[in-house]
Amino acid sequence: MALISLEQVTKDYPLGKTTIHALRGVDITIDEGEFTAVAGPSGCGKTTLLNIVGCIDHPTAGSVHLDGQQVEVLSDADEAGLRLHKIGFVFQNFNLIPVLTVEENVAFPAVLAGTPKGERRDYVTYLLDAVGISEYARHRPDELSGGQRQRVAVARALVNRPSLVIADEPTANLDSETGDRILDLMRTLNTRDSVTFLFSTHNPEILRYAGRTIRLRDGRIEGTS
Ligand SMILES: Nc1ncnc2c1ncn2[C@@H]1O[C@H](COP(=O)(O)OP(=O)(O)OP(=O)(O)O)[C@@H](O)[C@H]1O
Ligand SMILES: [Mg+2]
Repeated sequence: MALISLEQVTKDYPLGKTTIHALRGVDITIDEGEFTAVAGPSGCGKTTLLNIVGCIDHPTAGSVHLDGQQVEVLSDADEAGLRLHKIGFVFQNFNLIPVLTVEENVAFPAVLAGTPKGERRDYVTYLLDAVGISEYARHRPDELSGGQRQRVAVARALVNRPSLVIADEPTANLDSETGDRILDLMRTLNTRDSVTFLFSTHNPEILRYAGRTIRLRDGRIEGTS
């Protein structure tokens, strides 16, 4: 079954007296279990697309279905619930909370979701082990390297057992070896735990990990391979 489908999605941003056409009619279907990359040059619309798929942003026109639900017709509360339970995010600059420890950062979305404490603690322990960062559980993010921080961010994205993890340029702030390790980790979680991933990159090296690559140019899909 299709996990996500976008039909004729456009996104316009007003800019002074002109309009930026960030997306110009994008159709995409992603099935459960896929490991898909969105590639293309700076400004082609990758972040705009990922934010729309992740319900952080809305299209100017067109429709988005996530897990069989049409996103545009949901109330704000239902959409927030969808975001919290069905989607995990990994950002380019990690976006960890500096005053919380690693384990508290990972647990945070589960606290928001009201997951009981015992269950939460067990799953956080599992995830910290899965991403290879258990020994840093009590440390704060500023005591970690970039690659370690991104591992924490990946664990946090998974804590509510989302249907989909969206990662916008997850390796952009990492050296290439560390970036490879993050992609290896995501791919392992994809094959072993059946997590669906959609990630963006403008680094061609990273694309070899993708099961499928959607190439964007000027807000349009140029091709899929
Ligand atoms: N909030 C905004 N207001 C106005 N224009 C915007 C806004 N966000 C994005 N844009 C424009 O929309 C287009 C697509 O931007 P987007 O950030 O999606 O590109 P990108 O492919 O993610 O680029 P990069 O590789 O640099 O991250 C660009 O022309 C950008 O300037
Ligand atoms: Mg971007």
